Amino acid sequence: MFKSDVYNKRRETLHRKMKTGLGLFIGNSESPMNYPSNTYHFRQDSDFLYFFGIDLPGFTGLMDFDSGKDWLFGNDFDMDDIVWMGPQPLVKELALKCGITNSAPMANLEVMIKDALSKKRKIHFLPPYRGETKITLGSLLKENPCQMKTLASFDLIRDVVSMRSIKEKAEIDEIEKAVDIAYEMHTTAMKMCKPGVREQDIFGTIEGIALAKGGGTSFPVILSINGQTLHNHSHGNILQKGRMMVTDAGAETDRHYASDITRTTPVGGKFSGLQKDIYEIVLQANTEAIKATRPGVSNRNIHFSACKVIASGLKDLGLMTGDTSEAVTAGAHALFMPHGIGHMMGLDVHDMEALGENYIGYSEDVKRSDQFGHAFLRFALPYMPGHVFTIEPGCYFIPELINKWKDEGKFKEFINYGKIGKYMPIGGIRIEDNVLITEKGHKVLGKPIPKTVEEIERICT
Ligand code: GLY
Ligand code: MN
Repeated sequence: MFKSDVYNKRRETLHRKMKTGLGLFIGNSESPMNYPSNTYHFRQDSDFLYFFGIDLPGFTGLMDFDSGKDWLFGNDFDMDDIVWMGPQPLVKELALKCGITNSAPMANLEVMIKDALSKKRKIHFLPPYRGETKITLGSLLKENPCQMKTLASFDLIRDVVSMRSIKEKAEIDEIEKAVDIAYEMHTTAMKMCKPGVREQDIFGTIEGIALAKGGGTSFPVILSINGQTLHNHSHGNILQKGRMMVTDAGAETDRHYASDITRTTPVGGKFSGLQKDIYEIVLQANTEAIKATRPGVSNRNIHFSACKVIASGLKDLGLMTGDTSEAVTAGAHALFMPHGIGHMMGLDVHDMEALGENYIGYSEDVKRSDQFGHAFLRFALPYMPGHVFTIEPGCYFIPELINKWKDEGKFKEFINYGKIGKYMPIGGIRIEDNVLITEKGHKVLGKPIPKTVEEIERICT
């Protein structure tokens, strides 16, 4: 965790913003895989980490916005726990590490919440995303656990989003460390990308790098020669010449800040003419989008510019026809790029998504589109200094979608269905970098990972 000052400062800011009521932050507990003591890898809740920093299961933080007091609740280990798990710090010692002097056993939390409920005090909490947390909240607040998401506090969501959206210097340093781990993961994947190699071998190797150098992966690794499936988590194929391998993988640092990088490598390390044609279009969309990111420019505009680069490149190759701007406005390009240009990153790889994507990336004035493709844009607002984003354009040949649109005659004024066939073996190409918005422009975070055709071919040889 960071020094206690970091958490004191964050909680002070939240106290100032919220002014009244109680803020209840339930940290994550252990989650069993197949029997109670055989648990999944523990991942702390990101909001709990942000305000309290304690990376252990079974703790709850409470902020009293009226009195300004903060509490940490948890149970000290007993001798049986110590026999199996070794000596553990006391709850009061952990509380001091995040600058809190008031600590107590869990049972005291129930008493305090009961007292607050009897006085009709407002108890703010963030939307829970785990069953265990819903049950704990329901039991503490005497509410139906299934309703806890809808009863979450909009005021608390708004203020937490405003804080976590702007990254502190120490957070940016962490994200850069996470990208540096991703450098090792991706360059290793590129070197292993040879005919006859199993996807699973590469997947396991790079997951091992994330574990060896940091806190593991920041999301389940996407690695496949079937890159047309955007989130392909199956790794059962054997690499074959003529295919391209999409690797979308990032790491968490020990403090749980994420990286999220995608590279696409031709199997065997040498691009064919057709592969290069599509790759260069996606690369241009990536580099031009990054170049244009600066405060005040909206992610929605960057998204549309990138879509236009893709559509215009595909028009040059004969895959699209007609006016490029009209095609993109109509949504025809989404046959080839059906997702958004990127998302915020931080303690979560899709930062704060658990709080509700529309609270992060949309506002009263900027509403989400329901057009296919555009609807998947996670963030549409203008950038501010301190934002950290992914820029991840792609171009995909999704047989099921292409066949459906072709059968329906959809956008036949913009799409040359007859020309698509020879590009199908490409599957998908995505190129993703992590970008900080600075006062005047932007900075691509971390050690540059091979990205041009020449750089990728060089590292593969
Ligand atoms: N890296 C996976 C995603 O952004 O959804
Ligand atoms: Mn991403």
